Amino acid sequence: MIRCSTIQELREQLARLRRNAPESLIGFVPTMGYLHEGHASLMRRASEECAVTVLSIFVNPLQFGPNEDFDRYPRDLERDGKLAEANGVDILFAPAVKEIYPTKPLTRVLISEVTDRLCGASRPGHFDGVGTVVSKLFNLVQPDRAYFGMKDAQQVAVIEQMVHDLNIPVQIVRCETVREADGLAMSSRNVYLSAEEREQAVVLSKTLQAASGWLKQPGMTPAKLSKLIAERIRTASLARIDYAELLTYPELAQLDSNTDLSVISQPLIIALAVKFGSTRLIDNRLFELG
Ligand code: PAJ
Repeated sequence: MIRCSTIQELREQLARLRRNAPESLIGFVPTMGYLHEGHASLMRRASEECAVTVLSIFVNPLQFGPNEDFDRYPRDLERDGKLAEANGVDILFAPAVKEIYPTKPLTRVLISEVTDRLCGASRPGHFDGVGTVVSKLFNLVQPDRAYFGMKDAQQVAVIEQMVHDLNIPVQIVRCETVREADGLAMSSRNVYLSAEEREQAVVLSKTLQAASGWLKQPGMTPAKLSKLIAERIRTASLARIDYAELLTYPELAQLDSNTDLSVISQPLIIALAVKFGSTRLIDNRLFELG
């Protein structure tokens, strides 16, 4: 595995690989590090499908709000390097903030509508930061395919929209959410949870599981479903709901609250963001009805 921390090194290594094997597919997995099995599944998929797998590790300050966890976001580059190497990564790009933003960036990628709800609403500016850094990384790596986890389903919708609108020549590959044995979606932020919070955090995946049954009940509507979902989450005494929404996917549009869900044929998503103490967890489930 080749490690690069500068843009120049990365470009040289990629140019060399492209010269030696011009036809080979380049797969790209952008991350913020503190890698876990969810990230590893993306790396393995990329290395199965592509001749070259590039992993980036960059905690992007632009996508964190002023009161968010940028400074305390967990970092362990040494451990991440070992995990990357064991999961088929050929080039690990881990730049410093100054390398990516040597001067204050005056150009941003702003994606509208798909960012109106969910994390876009709860975290103003978050997806502008994601869109900006991901388009920079796409320009640096110029991958054929880029792998994203459906755990961040809104991020996938946002990136797909950006790639479509800006004609970026990359195929976005949606990858399944990887979960702990009890159902909790893996996340670098799970390390923040106390033992009691960790135990109760399972309420997200359990609620989504229960919702798949509720969704099929005759006469079910978005209004009734939202009530059932909120009640279920509140059975966990430490849980504070940030949002719990049923939307179309990937448009992320709201349905009329009294729509009979049995007549809906487009894919729907139930997306949850729940706080335990200062830790905010997200999870979702996609449903193809009809
Ligand atoms: P990060 O949270 O590190 O996630 C990197 C990638 O791993 C994302 O595509 C995310 O959806 C995926 N991922 C995280 N947990 C997962 C899980 N349990 N199962 C499957 N995939 C999972 O998302 C970001 O970083 C950043 O916003 C980034 C795209 C790198 C831009 O800065």
